[in-house]
Amino acid sequence: MRKNIVAGNWKMNKTLQEGLALATELNEVLAGAELKCDVVIGTPFIHLASVAATIDTKVIGVAAQNCANKESGAYTGEISAAMVKSTGANYVILGHSERRAYYGETAELLKTKTELALANGLTPIFCIGEVLEERESGVFFDVVKGQIVDSLFDLSAEDFGKIVLAYEPVWAIGTGKTASAAQAQEIHAFIRATIAAKYGESVAQETSILYGGSCNASNAQELFSNPDVDGGLIGGAALKVADFKAIIDAF
Ligand code: 13P
Repeated sequence: MRKNIVAGNWKMNKTLQEGLALATELNEVLAGAELKCDVVIGTPFIHLASVAATIDTKVIGVAAQNCANKESGAYTGEISAAMVKSTGANYVILGHSERRAYYGETAELLKTKTELALANGLTPIFCIGEVLEERESGVFFDVVKGQIVDSLFDLSAEDFGKIVLAYEPVWAIGTGKTASAAQAQEIHAFIRATIAAKYGESVAQETSILYGGSCNASNAQELFSNPDVDGGLIGGAALKVADFKAIIDAF
């Protein structure tokens, strides 16, 4: 059976000391708790090694929020997938809409990043999702399908089976506006059918598809109760342990 996952995306928040304090507190709260889902925290690069060394990574997985599209070499300021892996992190968030919008990340670039992440033993949490205009004009199915096809559908079935998808409608991110449970289920089912058409039903059934966008303690349960919503990618509400724990407990 596919995994349920609640993953936090800290984005560009928390100094190293603040991040370590947050991770330590979460680690304490989750130690010994009976969890019905996997838990992951996506920290800034510079936090990864210290966080991974501080927490029980069997309980809380650690994710980077990006990695380079090159293996190594003269790429000043970049962080490779191998470097991320060497910190003790096991996941990398790729294709977040903020990276697509503010840093010009293209489908082709994300394809390369995904391949490098997989080659270095990282699980990509690959983000897709439409902007408001695309939702309102009804082209969002095509947009989301295109994002998957263009970056991921050259992967072998075996490699695709290692990907976690996160559907994050851009209009819901940080806006307090959430997709309704019905909207989430509709597009998640569409995403799963898109995967099934390419890789077959069993790969599609094994793929975890997370929802992201103003997911919080009050709406998580309703969102996660949908058959095709396998957890959440959480921004703002991942920055406070009580809020994040309440989302984890929604399962
Ligand atoms: P918010 O939960 O703050 O809306 O952010 C969602 C997100 O972008 C997670 O990657």
